[in-house]
Amino acid sequence: MSYIKSSVIDEKGYVILDAYDQSADPKEWLDIEYVEWNSSGVTRFAPLASAFGEVEVNGFWNHTPPRTDKDGVWIDSAVAKAPNLVRRAQEPGANVGRCRVIELQPNEYANTLYNLHQDDNNRLNPDGTGWIVRGFFNLSDDAESFMTLREDRFDPTTEIRIALPAGAQIIVDTQRFWHAVWHKGPEPRYCLITSWESGPELDAYIAKYNGTSEHTNPPLDQKIIDDAQAEVQRRLAERSAALAAQGKVDKGPVDPEA
Ligand SMILES: [Fe+2]
Repeated sequence: MSYIKSSVIDEKGYVILDAYDQSADPKEWLDIEYVEWNSSGVTRFAPLASAFGEVEVNGFWNHTPPRTDKDGVWIDSAVAKAPNLVRRAQEPGANVGRCRVIELQPNEYANTLYNLHQDDNNRLNPDGTGWIVRGFFNLSDDAESFMTLREDRFDPTTEIRIALPAGAQIIVDTQRFWHAVWHKGPEPRYCLITSWESGPELDAYIAKYNGTSEHTNPPLDQKIIDDAQAEVQRRLAERSAALAAQGKVDKGPVDPEA
């Protein structure tokens, strides 16, 4: 047995869909309820669908009984305030797990690289069912910011940078890619993130919106890359040393959204 995957996503690990006309919709993401999550204290999430329909963003496997990132329960209060966001998350007709808006504060490229992580979406996902991937619909207009993907965490030559103007729509295998967003600001970035189950419904949706992995990276000065790489190594060494001083082993990055 193996997971059902979308061949068009699986080819390169991501697809870019036609842009959505974000300007036609009200800014529903400013009306819904945000909760702080995990250690950062900076990034916030506003859930639209959660494990049991509560306003919380914990991984479904952390609930009782634990389950994979499917069969999210829509949150009544959020659905009432964000009907367009819900409609867009439901449009593929694929099973939806977690669905939420992320609010991300501006950061630096070195932060982005330090924050690169792989998601754990497919924990407890039964073999033979659809592989869980994530849709990213940029809501705020962040044309100078980039969804940053790497096949190899420390190899900048594997990096893919996709610009995030309002209406950008990307689907990513976030368990395959190391990923984070380089958000230059100055305002917070808002993005609708939806966990979808791969299968014929998602394939049809990708085809309808001309999903493609044809993409040319915007240029980035080699010195900026080199400096950020060095800064990440410095921070990681500092972190390992701090943990070692406490008798702890650095287990590496964990999924900050889990
Ligand atoms: Fe992630």
